Amino acid sequence: MCGVFGYVGQRRDVGAAIVAALKTLEYRGYDSWGLAVATADGLLVDKDVGRINGQVRVFPEATIGLGHTRWATHGRVTRQNAHPHTDCHRRIAVVHNGIIENHAVLKDQLLQRGHQFRSETDSEVVAHLVEEQLAAHRPLAESVALVFRLLEGHNAIVVMDAVSGKLAAAKRTTPLIIGQGGQGSTIASDAFALQGHADRLIHLEDGQLAVLAANSANILDRATLLPSQPVSVAVAVDRDDAGLGSYPDFLTKEVAEQPTVLRRLVASSGDDVEGLSTEMRRANRVILTGCGSAGNAALAGAYMLNSVCAMESSFVPASEFSHRAGRRLAGSLVIALSQSGETLDVLEAMDEARRRGARLAAVVNAPNSSLERRVDARVMLGAGVEQCVLATKSYSAMIAALMLTAFDLAGKFAAGAAAVCGAAQAIEALLEPDARGHIGEIGSRLAARDHLFVIGRGVHYPSALEAALKIKEVSYIHAEGFAAGELKHGVIALVEPGTPCLVFAPDDETRTDMVSSASELRSRGGHIIGVGSTPDPVFDEFIPTLPVGIASPIVEAIPGQLLGYGAALARGHDPDRPRNLAKSVTVK
Ligand code: G6P
Repeated sequence: MCGVFGYVGQRRDVGAAIVAALKTLEYRGYDSWGLAVATADGLLVDKDVGRINGQVRVFPEATIGLGHTRWATHGRVTRQNAHPHTDCHRRIAVVHNGIIENHAVLKDQLLQRGHQFRSETDSEVVAHLVEEQLAAHRPLAESVALVFRLLEGHNAIVVMDAVSGKLAAAKRTTPLIIGQGGQGSTIASDAFALQGHADRLIHLEDGQLAVLAANSANILDRATLLPSQPVSVAVAVDRDDAGLGSYPDFLTKEVAEQPTVLRRLVASSGDDVEGLSTEMRRANRVILTGCGSAGNAALAGAYMLNSVCAMESSFVPASEFSHRAGRRLAGSLVIALSQSGETLDVLEAMDEARRRGARLAAVVNAPNSSLERRVDARVMLGAGVEQCVLATKSYSAMIAALMLTAFDLAGKFAAGAAAVCGAAQAIEALLEPDARGHIGEIGSRLAARDHLFVIGRGVHYPSALEAALKIKEVSYIHAEGFAAGELKHGVIALVEPGTPCLVFAPDDETRTDMVSSASELRSRGGHIIGVGSTPDPVFDEFIPTLPVGIASPIVEAIPGQLLGYGAALARGHDPDRPRNLAKSVTVK
């Protein structure tokens, strides 16, 4: 979850460069932040809780440093617990992403050996363990390799040594990327942070160790410390994508980008889609997996495959995969959906699927991500960087990608492409100022409510789950999505006079039943907000959408995004950085 950035090179304004990089990484965690630079007078460490604000901090000249944005796992959100952490003599500074599962044992041993701890974090053990190795006159690379071997769990660490002027880094599962080119060597948890610092990127592998100095970036085998042949790739991120432009926030920007993203996907994904459908044809079983919004998109994909090409598939949340997927998966294809390609539960599910004999595929946005590099086939979403913590354009693009694949399997790619373009047009209609204002206004009225229910049926059931997820994560209103048929089995007991109920009622085979469900809710006092192409007297309010048939779930993503946004603004919340959340969930 946490963001990590380190630099060593010719620049003398390292402090400012780190702060700028951390701002781009804030979506990985934003409860506190910190940096350390090695100056002529020793290590300077600066930390704070909260967001990296506009305060101008002046840092002394330095050519090496590292920084961190935190999403707390062990230890409260305090200044002391913010990274970097230092050893007893303030020779080294450490930043960490992950969970050191055996930290309690390691800390007890270090305390017994006389080390002084300043934080409650699991991460600080690394600083003291490296301190001991350096005190035994081991070089930094060997010290970090030895210490990393002691750590249990999925971790990434970067260690700065003020004496040798080097950074050393190692990882297991959770990513670290090294930037080459520019005025030095850089390392980060996310390729996005290396923009402007590097021309080429090296994705550090689990068995490797990186040692960065002012004029060199060496990748070693972590076990032997012999040089390891790294594979470097060109920087793939489009710089124009990064800024806010004239948008007030990234949520608004990324919602607005959806029609363009969908059309670009149609134009660019033909070969990827063909590759995925070939894998699916060969498989005797197809399992879709993902987390959060990507999980909802995977579920929508399973409905689409059934409806468009009569292909049976199942959805298993990535965090449940090892418990629920079959023990023997030879002949199966497991398809993971992920925006970041770094969600730990997804990577673990895929590794487990591989061990059980499955072939692997991905529908993924981030190029060169850990997920993309694990799979046999992939559809790249090409949605551009998604910075708001809420998944928006990646969600609609994931559904579109699976829909194109379903049409391709049915031998009708062109019809699928036309349907996705129809959805893009319908989204444009929803984003027209009047339509948008209408939905935002309904959202701002929701801000006064504590509970909200969302229902859908068939392929629209995942839309209900996703709309509820969007509303709750950004506005903190308790919102639950249900399959409409489940209403009478418990949910309806919660409906009181005035309870807002969002009802997906498109003009298809689900319409009659959805209108009946809406009537049942209204009879109990529910305030019905209908979404569909045709109004009905049972709706107290209506969000009209253009009829797009099977592509409806793509369009149905938008009302939830805009309702959540309206409610969040009315409640005074930051739409891009909701409390307690992070964009990329790299811990369990
Ligand atoms: C986090 C984000 C969600 C996202 C989920 C899965 O919880 O806040 O918006 O849907 O992770 O992320 P992924 O990168 O795997 O799609």
